[in-house]
Amino acid sequence: MSVVEHSRRGEVTVRDLSKSFALNGQRLDVLRDLQLEVRGGEALAIVGPSGCGKTTLLRVLAGLEQPDRGEILIDGHPVQGVGTERAIIFQEPRLLPWLTVLGNVAFGLTVRGLPADRAEARARHYIRLVGLAAFEKAYPRQLSGGMAQRVGIARALTVQPGILLLDEPLGALDAMTKLTMQEELARIWREEKVTMILVTHDLEEAIFLADRVLMLPNERGSQPRLIDIRLPRPRDRSEPDFVAMRRRLMAEFGLH
Ligand SMILES: Nc1ncnc2c1ncn2[C@@H]1O[C@H](COP(=O)(O)OP(=O)(O)O)[C@@H](O)[C@H]1O
Ligand SMILES: [Mg+2]
Repeated sequence: MSVVEHSRRGEVTVRDLSKSFALNGQRLDVLRDLQLEVRGGEALAIVGPSGCGKTTLLRVLAGLEQPDRGEILIDGHPVQGVGTERAIIFQEPRLLPWLTVLGNVAFGLTVRGLPADRAEARARHYIRLVGLAAFEKAYPRQLSGGMAQRVGIARALTVQPGILLLDEPLGALDAMTKLTMQEELARIWREEKVTMILVTHDLEEAIFLADRVLMLPNERGSQPRLIDIRLPRPRDRSEPDFVAMRRRLMAEFGLH
C-alpha cells in the first residue's frame, strides 16, 4: 500500500443502512434503514443510550463491520471495507508498548512504505499538534491516560485521513482531563479541517464539539433525530444558549 494523498472533502453518505446481529438464536435489529449525510469538514456527534448501536454504526462507517443492507459513500463513491481516507480512534489507544511516542505515531506510515526520515518528520508534526513534543522519546508506560489518547489521535491523523471516527475517545479519562481534551479536540478539528464523527454518551461533550447531533433511538421503530447546534465557536459551557441547548437535548433524551 502506498501513502495516498486524498482529495479530503470527507463527505460521508449513508444510504438505507441496516445491520442486525444474531443473539441467542434471535435477530437483533441494531440499525434500520438509516439515512445520513455528513458534510465535508463537519463535526457530527452520535449519542444514544447504551446498546443502541453507536459503536456498530461507527464500525460499519470504518469498514470494520459489513452492513446487511445499504451502502456507505465517501465523496460520492461507494466504499467497501477499510480505507486510508478514514481513521478510527477507540476509547483505549492501544499503543505498541515497545515503541516510543515517535515510533508509535510514525508506525502507520513506515508500514505503508514511507522512508523512516519522512515518516518521522510527519509524525513529529502531529505530535506537536497534540501538544506532546517534549514526550516524543517517552514510552507508553510513561504516559498518563490523556497523553496516551493524544498519541492515539496523532497516530490517526498522521496518515492524513479526511474522516476521523471516534468511539467515546474521552470515555476513560478523569473529569478534568476530559475537559482539556475536549478543548484539544475542538482545536485539532478546526486546524485539520477533517470530518469528525464522534460517538459519545456525554451530551455536553456533543454540544461542545458538534455542528449536529445524531440521536439514535433505543425503542424499536422510533426514528433517529438530527439536531443542529448553532452556537458560536469557541463554545462556552456557561453561556445561557449552551445551557439551554443542554436542557433541550436532555429533554429529547427523556432526562430532566
Ligand atoms: N458482534 C456482535 N454480535 C452480537 N451482538 C452484537 C455484536 N456487536 C454488538 N451487538 C449488539 O448490538 C447492540 C448494539 O451494540 P453497540 O453498537 O455496541 O451499542 P452502543 O455502542 O450504542 O452501546 C447491543 O445490543 C449489542 O449487544
Ligand atoms: Mg459503544
